[in-house]
Amino acid sequence: MNLVVVGAQWGDEGKGKLIDILSEKVDITVRFQGGNNAGHTVIVGDKEYVFHLIPSAILRRGKTCVIANGVVIDPQALLEEIDGLKKRGLPISGKQLKISANAHVVMPYHRVMDQLREGKRANKIGTTGRGIGPCYSDKVGRMGIRVIDLFNPRVLKAKLADNLNEKNDIFVKVYGFKNYDFGEIYKEYLAFGRRLKPYVCDTALFLNQAIKQKKKILFEGAQGTFLDIDFGTYPFVTSSNATTGGVCCGTGVPPTAVDQIVAAFKAYTTRVGEGPFPTEFGKAMNECIRSKGHEFGATTGRPRRCGWFDAVLAKYAVAINGASVLAIMKLDVLDELDEIAIATAYKYKGKIYKEYSHDWDVLAGAKPVFEYWPGWKTPTRHLRRYSQLPKEARRYIERLEDLLGAPVKYISVGSKRDEIIIR
Ligand code: GDP
Ligand code: IMO
Ligand code: MG
Repeated sequence: MNLVVVGAQWGDEGKGKLIDILSEKVDITVRFQGGNNAGHTVIVGDKEYVFHLIPSAILRRGKTCVIANGVVIDPQALLEEIDGLKKRGLPISGKQLKISANAHVVMPYHRVMDQLREGKRANKIGTTGRGIGPCYSDKVGRMGIRVIDLFNPRVLKAKLADNLNEKNDIFVKVYGFKNYDFGEIYKEYLAFGRRLKPYVCDTALFLNQAIKQKKKILFEGAQGTFLDIDFGTYPFVTSSNATTGGVCCGTGVPPTAVDQIVAAFKAYTTRVGEGPFPTEFGKAMNECIRSKGHEFGATTGRPRRCGWFDAVLAKYAVAINGASVLAIMKLDVLDELDEIAIATAYKYKGKIYKEYSHDWDVLAGAKPVFEYWPGWKTPTRHLRRYSQLPKEARRYIERLEDLLGAPVKYISVGSKRDEIIIR
């Protein structure tokens, strides 16, 4: 069975932990979009790993990880990640990690453009500053440099020259920034190409052959549904399709090869960066949940904004991802609360909204309509069976199932690998 795990909120739902668990039963794990804006945490024993570009299944030795064509790759960040794992005793071969030849490459000017553009915007997105938006812009604008170009000096030279020709003018004239030196980037990126070459192949062919051989594949989403470029809280989103739809274009695997879609939610909601967040807590509660859930960005270290579970958004996420199975992560973070709220609608200018609105004003001004459920006020971290959960916790989970119309199969009660209830 081929599975997809997608983030169903604003990212950081605990996808890394879920992928680590699910990858035990598959042959291949694939990242299909995003870049090193992602930060996926996996905790095994007393060791913590944060993955940015490498799939979270890399700790499962003997399995294959793929960074497919839909991902944007910062070669420097990827090589640092590979070196970091090697230092921790986990060297990675070309058999274990495969990188798409036609994935686009994040260039130094993308990172700087990301930051300069943010600086000029009145309505900041709060990007991770990793150059993700500018790299995807160049891809769509047909200016992009791909992994395969790093092996072809003639092509790299031509493309880089064209890029700098335009970009240096923008950097200097619009932003009062510096000119980029062609020779420096050219040499640096040819060297990156030499180091990455052992991992590079046509990953679409590799995956389709694997499907023919009945190998099992797990697709690892990055970011989340409301950061999706089409369905998210635009413009406060990332620049790729973080929803299930991104799997096919991001890998070259046809939709008929996907068997099950798992939507990952936190038992509450978080968001890093700017943008509307209807169920966001007030200051005191924000600090309380942030400290209980260690809600600080895995990539930038920024404090995450926290709020109640938003069933209006969640329902939409289940629909557009085609999720047939739900995962509720970080249930333990709610262990001590007296009462837990779920937003089931919004109120804006006297009108009730039961569905997600794409109107910036509605989202920004929406007052959630809450229903309240009693808390369980007892630790859950040590529990491994659904029947052992306090009845209030089961009632909360079952209420989410009612609202979202899909079964909750995975309930995570702690950050470690074994702290999970599978129904
Ligand atoms: P991802 O981006 O979706 O992979 O999520 P992140 O790794 O950025 O953020 C999730 C954070 O929550 C990480 O620090 C995980 O170690 C932690 N985590 C995951 N599941 C649980 C859980 O069930 N309980 C608690 N307390 N922490 C969890
Ligand atoms: P994972 O995979 C949470 C957010 C940024 C910003 C917006 C755009 O760990 O869930 P970008 O750098 O992508 O242009 O930033 O998206 N963002 C994330 N938030 N988790 C992530 O990834 C994110 N990746 C990007 O904070 O608001
Ligand atoms: Mg994360």
